[in-house]
Amino acid sequence: MVQTADGAVSEVVEVVIDRVISGGLGLAWYEGRTVLVPYAAAGDRLLVQVAPNRRRGVHHGAIVAILSAGPHRIEPICPLYGQCGGCQMQHLSQAASLSIKRDFVVDALRRLARVPAAEAVSCVQPTQPGHTTTGYRQRCQLQLDWQEQQPRIGFHASASHQVVDVNHCAALHPLLNQQLGPLRQWLTSQPSPAATSSRINLACGDSGVAMAPPILTSDPFCRYSLNGFKLSFQVGDFTQVNFTDNQQLVNEVMALAGSGRQALDLFCGIGNFTLPLRQQFDRVTGVELSPASVDRARRNVRHNGLGDISIYRIDLFNPAGTARLTTDPVDCVVLDPPREGALQVSRWLVDRGRIARVVYVSCNPATFARDSAILTAGDFQLRSVQPIDLFPMTHHVELVALFDRKSL
Ligand SMILES: C[S@@+](CC[C@H](N)C(=O)[O-])C[C@H]1O[C@@H](n2cnc3c(N)ncnc32)[C@H](O)[C@@H]1O
Repeated sequence: MVQTADGAVSEVVEVVIDRVISGGLGLAWYEGRTVLVPYAAAGDRLLVQVAPNRRRGVHHGAIVAILSAGPHRIEPICPLYGQCGGCQMQHLSQAASLSIKRDFVVDALRRLARVPAAEAVSCVQPTQPGHTTTGYRQRCQLQLDWQEQQPRIGFHASASHQVVDVNHCAALHPLLNQQLGPLRQWLTSQPSPAATSSRINLACGDSGVAMAPPILTSDPFCRYSLNGFKLSFQVGDFTQVNFTDNQQLVNEVMALAGSGRQALDLFCGIGNFTLPLRQQFDRVTGVELSPASVDRARRNVRHNGLGDISIYRIDLFNPAGTARLTTDPVDCVVLDPPREGALQVSRWLVDRGRIARVVYVSCNPATFARDSAILTAGDFQLRSVQPIDLFPMTHHVELVALFDRKSL
């Protein structure tokens, strides 16, 4: 037992990890208590320091020693793994990560959408791997900090605002890794820490690098290729973080969207799905809230000769916003909301009628499951869910799901 500064007692206990659950946490039990352990793998026998405080009967533990490693544990490739908060699943083989990410989606559907276990298992496909597990991140936010007159440049430590100093990040695209050295030099040359910004946004496309604030040479626009189109964006715009595997994501969405007269692309960002949808539908409308993204989507539409696509600025979290959407029959609605999900859009989809298919893209299985329950309580049925590993080495998972109308 260890006494903490506030007098509470934490214990060091031996546990065996049962499985890895959402958030990349190892799940174990000790004397009837649930213990969650970061950086643990299924089958690990561990000595774990268990914090005295608990939330909803769940204790949090930290690994003190690995007594014996589970079969899927591997050596992490980054020396900062465990300190830097960016990655949570580097210690797991790729096969284990893919299978765990599928389980996250199955579990969310079972727990939060009350989908029967057998149905959830048959509906959720094995996670598609990406083309690479490293060097994939094409945008990031770097944190800056000073300690004892030395600059730190990197990412926040896990559950903390402390900056972990990073010289090379295994997840970052090589073009972005190349910026770390010059940025550190620039930071060191500054007369006072107070003169510097506390964060820098970095992004790159197929070539060129942009940063905000533009401390080093920064391209005003980055570009990437997609379905024969060129899309441009500015640093700070929402884009998928992994452009190589973005094509895989877009292919999946387009295959499920099918073809027809009219498609809506809700939460369309800079037009990542909107432009490809025009290759399959006579009429395409994109909807987005961010003025900058609306601007970029319109520019992308124009520059690719697709002037008949309409882009509207609408708040899709608001009933007054969804009330502005078309009342004509729609063959397919694609929606790709932020992590909060699409509660209002899901309600609107159920109430509205005359929508044949919904392709739901999500980076958050929990809000996806919540919205899925709304859609299936209405007139939609969930046909398939395809997880894709767009964020290797982390606990994040992207998914693409198809719903269609029961009554059609
Ligand atoms: C996950 S991104 C998807 C963007 C795009 N589909 C893509 O693949 O790049 C979510 C988008 O929803 C937009 N958004 C966030 N809140 C919104 C709201 N209340 N109404 C409409 N769009 C919103 C964000 O600006 C962002 O572009």
